[in-house]
Amino acid sequence: MKHPARIAVPGPAGQIGYSILFRLASGAMLGPDQPVSLTLLERPNPTSSAALKGVMMELDDCAFPTLAEMKAVRDPAEAFDGAEYVFLIGARPRGPGMERADLLEANASIFETQGRALNEAASRNVKVLVVGNPCNTNAYIAYHHAPNLDPKCFSAMMRLDANRAVAQLAEKTQKPVCSIQGVRVWGNHSNSMYPDITAATIAGTAATELVDEAWYNDYFLPTVATRGGAIIKARGKSSAASAASAAIDHMRDWWNGSDGRVVTMAVPSDGSYGIPEGIVCGMPVICTGNGNYEIVKDIEFTAAGRARLDKTVAELVKESETVAPLIAE
Ligand code: NAD
Ligand code: LMR
Repeated sequence: MKHPARIAVPGPAGQIGYSILFRLASGAMLGPDQPVSLTLLERPNPTSSAALKGVMMELDDCAFPTLAEMKAVRDPAEAFDGAEYVFLIGARPRGPGMERADLLEANASIFETQGRALNEAASRNVKVLVVGNPCNTNAYIAYHHAPNLDPKCFSAMMRLDANRAVAQLAEKTQKPVCSIQGVRVWGNHSNSMYPDITAATIAGTAATELVDEAWYNDYFLPTVATRGGAIIKARGKSSAASAASAAIDHMRDWWNGSDGRVVTMAVPSDGSYGIPEGIVCGMPVICTGNGNYEIVKDIEFTAAGRARLDKTVAELVKESETVAPLIAE
């Protein structure tokens, strides 16, 4: 029998936790032949502990052949001991009328603590996906507190934005999702993000030939950028199943490779495109297998595209300045 893959999930009793755990346990990420071990880190209050107990009872009741073991823990270092795949989900979500950056005050310290614990205990080749918002800056905080890990072990989730962009294009052109390639989302997981279709193709035809500029500017861009808020307005809670699904897409491609496809990940900038080094920025990458990726280089921007990129990067820089005292500690 194969060695179980060690997956750690803080925040397992929450909304996203309830969607992601069953898919992780059933092999949706690593396949039907790879057993998994789940370590679940929750807050130690009675409500969260009871909710987690219920989730674990349901995981038991699924009798997934791929779920080799699972345990609930309260200490981050124990949670990340030898962890190979980590989903940093446990954090407060925003409510109606809030921006994701408004969560920094409530959530930043979680990522400081968890970054330190990852530094201490995780596999040196760990893949850490930050989902808790504001995810780019939380990832920035986490990797700064993990100096013994390569910053490239950390990324933040903008795959949901890329999936949303693909879904909008599919609906507009009435083409299947699987025929759409090359969509990329730059910058911050916030309203300032830049969903870019200049290199996208739909069934082999340039997307820009199939949709007009007015639709792109007036409908597509704002719809993708504000989709999270629209979901909160519609269901009273933030996205959960689609977020869990995007997290699995992200981690699966990161680890297994993306078969030459361009995918969107928010990763520490290497200075490409003038994006300040170290900022965790949504960018097009190609995942080359075993948890490696390369940022796609030499992309030329239109003037409008460059302005959008500059705006969203400026917001990330501002968030990084806000958390500078936390990084300096
Ligand atoms: P939720 O409130 O339903 O669940 C959060 C869970 O995390 C709760 O069970 C809570 O007890 C737990 N938690 C809080 N602090 C913790 C800590 N320090 N250690 C361990 N567990 C902790 O929230 P949710 O809907 O699951 O969303 C979680 C986060 O994901 C939010 O910040 C949300 O904004 C974010 N999110 C990001 C994306 C994205 O695309 N990046 C998409 C959706 C949601
Ligand atoms: C999303 O994009 O759905 C999440 O980031 C949740 C939110 O606050 O919008």
